[in-house]
Amino acid sequence: MTQVTEVAPDVFRISTFVPQAGIEFAQFLVRDDEPLLFETGLKMMFPAVREAVAKLIDPAKLRWITFSHFESDECGALNEFLAIAPNAEAACSLVGAATSVNDFASRPPRVLADNEEIATGKRRFRYLVTPHVPHCWDAGLLFETTDRTLFSSDLLTQSGEQPPLTESDPLERAREQLIGFQKSPFADYMPYTEKTPAVLERLAALQPKTVATMHGSVYRGDGAKVLRGLSKIMTEVLGEGRA
Ligand SMILES: [Fe+2]
Ligand SMILES: [Fe+2]
Repeated sequence: MTQVTEVAPDVFRISTFVPQAGIEFAQFLVRDDEPLLFETGLKMMFPAVREAVAKLIDPAKLRWITFSHFESDECGALNEFLAIAPNAEAACSLVGAATSVNDFASRPPRVLADNEEIATGKRRFRYLVTPHVPHCWDAGLLFETTDRTLFSSDLLTQSGEQPPLTESDPLERAREQLIGFQKSPFADYMPYTEKTPAVLERLAALQPKTVATMHGSVYRGDGAKVLRGLSKIMTEVLGEGRA
């Protein structure tokens, strides 16, 4: 059920397809001196995700647990991971800490400012504060600067069971997913405001080589082009071009 795929050097996608939801839920483990987990998965997924992490590293050695925003698929198993990894620290935005994580987490989180970097050994990660992108006030994203991997959370969501990694354009599947959600009780998955295009352009300017979405295929290729394409699709489906 839970698949592990190396999607960039020492970056592993741990993914579980949930048929009832019709969507995959992925977490990303980066193997380094200070191992980092981006997204914990739902609390109910903890046993499976922990087992997958244990194939890659000793889970007790996890050092960083970070995520985009306070939702169960992003950080529902945060306390379970903090319990098995005594040196692990949650890392999130100031808004995330103030509104949810300070209260929810069993240990206080490390607050990351916009553009703040953390080093995990061979790698550096830049935290980007991106309120309401993909959604939620507390949202942030993580960019690995060496191999240029953007951990994009819900950006580029694709429904169904997809190949773990693709070099072909995922935009049509992302468009179908957004249109499908608009016709469902999950409409307005992501807000579209006058600030959204600039946030997506900021991400594109990082020129990611890998865009690691949590729902769907990880894309390897021209990340800037795909993010600009996604911005156009969001404008058409959710923004001013909306029917
Ligand atoms: Fe989300
Ligand atoms: Fe999500």
